[in-house]
Amino acid sequence: MNHRVIVVGCGGMANKWVDYAIERTNVSIVALVDVFIENAIKMRDAHNLDVPVFESLTDAIAQTEATLVFDVTIPASHKDVSSEAMRMNLNVFGEKPMAESFEDANSVLALSAKQKQTYSVMQNRRYDKHIRGLQKALDQQLIGPVGAVHADFFLGPHFGGFREAMLHPLIIDMAIHTFDQARLICNADPVSVYCHEFNTPGSWYDGNASAVCIFEMDNGIVFTYRGSWSSIGAGTSWQSEWRIQGSKGTALWNGEKELFADVKQLKENKEGDFLDEIVHVPIQADVSRREGHEGCLDEMFQALEEGRLAETDCTSNIKSMAMVFGAIKSAKEGKKVLLTGTHLEV
Ligand SMILES: NC(=O)c1ccc[n+]([C@@H]2O[C@H](COP(=O)([O-])OP(=O)(O)OC[C@H]3O[C@@H](n4cnc5c(N)ncnc54)[C@H](O)[C@@H]3O)[C@@H](O)[C@H]2O)c1
Repeated sequence: MNHRVIVVGCGGMANKWVDYAIERTNVSIVALVDVFIENAIKMRDAHNLDVPVFESLTDAIAQTEATLVFDVTIPASHKDVSSEAMRMNLNVFGEKPMAESFEDANSVLALSAKQKQTYSVMQNRRYDKHIRGLQKALDQQLIGPVGAVHADFFLGPHFGGFREAMLHPLIIDMAIHTFDQARLICNADPVSVYCHEFNTPGSWYDGNASAVCIFEMDNGIVFTYRGSWSSIGAGTSWQSEWRIQGSKGTALWNGEKELFADVKQLKENKEGDFLDEIVHVPIQADVSRREGHEGCLDEMFQALEEGRLAETDCTSNIKSMAMVFGAIKSAKEGKKVLLTGTHLEV
């Protein structure tokens, strides 16, 4: 199957998508679109592409026989770009998040079903080889049934641009990754959230850039998240630092290469034993697929070619979105919020 792709949004992240498309033999980029045409021209020149550039997706669709749209615009544009593409009977692969509001995400989801066009969302962080190794080890019951998952995310990046001006920058633009990773690690979907969102002294973000959240998952796991984007020094990994507590032990992943479990040794406890004897078990990364954007795009294309939904199709990604917007709703109302698929209830 050959894919004729229009790339919409020619900023920083689009470079990764364009590189992928160039490398893939059954993909041709047929147009580059950006509201600032100079960005599209810059992208065309930087990648030596011989393709037309447009200021509007409408014109690009009219003048090319595209089959697929890459939406690499800013979050505020995702709904309009993906909706227009699907209304014109094109499939969409888009950057996270699906939309800037839960209502918009649901309207895009409904449109995908109505138009019978797939909309797959970039969740590159679930394609890390260590998280996949962790997931495998948990599936194989290395630490027994899991009861609690904790993630810490502390960094202090100075992005400039839309992130410093938007509302809820941490939860909407970053925590979506961690929440989506939590669904993978817990092998579960969320049922409730309580979130407290705030700004720490000296934060350079207009919106709240710190949050603490407690989620209950549909298999009983409690997932907690502590995060800040205005944290100076002692930074964690961009993948967060993870602690997973099971009935037989604890798995730790520092978000990079350090991945292991401390597991209770199989022996009878003697009377008077205070703490269990522990064996330290390294967990192997799962290298059976590519990582990051490449891994996620491989899966999106494979799903499209096999006529099935991708792992990060909007029908699944809406549950990660529910975690994001449920957290924001909870923070605004100061209450626990129930999450039921595509609905948020107090
Ligand atoms: N998955 C990841 O790890 C990851 C990392 C960084 C960014 N992102 C996401 O990628 C997306 C783009 O981020 P970025 O850092 O490249 O932003 P950016 O600001 O560098 O680029 C966005 C581009 O989109 C253009 N644009 C905006 N609205 C448009 C519209 N309606 N039509 C056409 N062009 C439009 C802008 O002019 C700009 O050139 C965001 O959704 C962001 O959250 C994802």
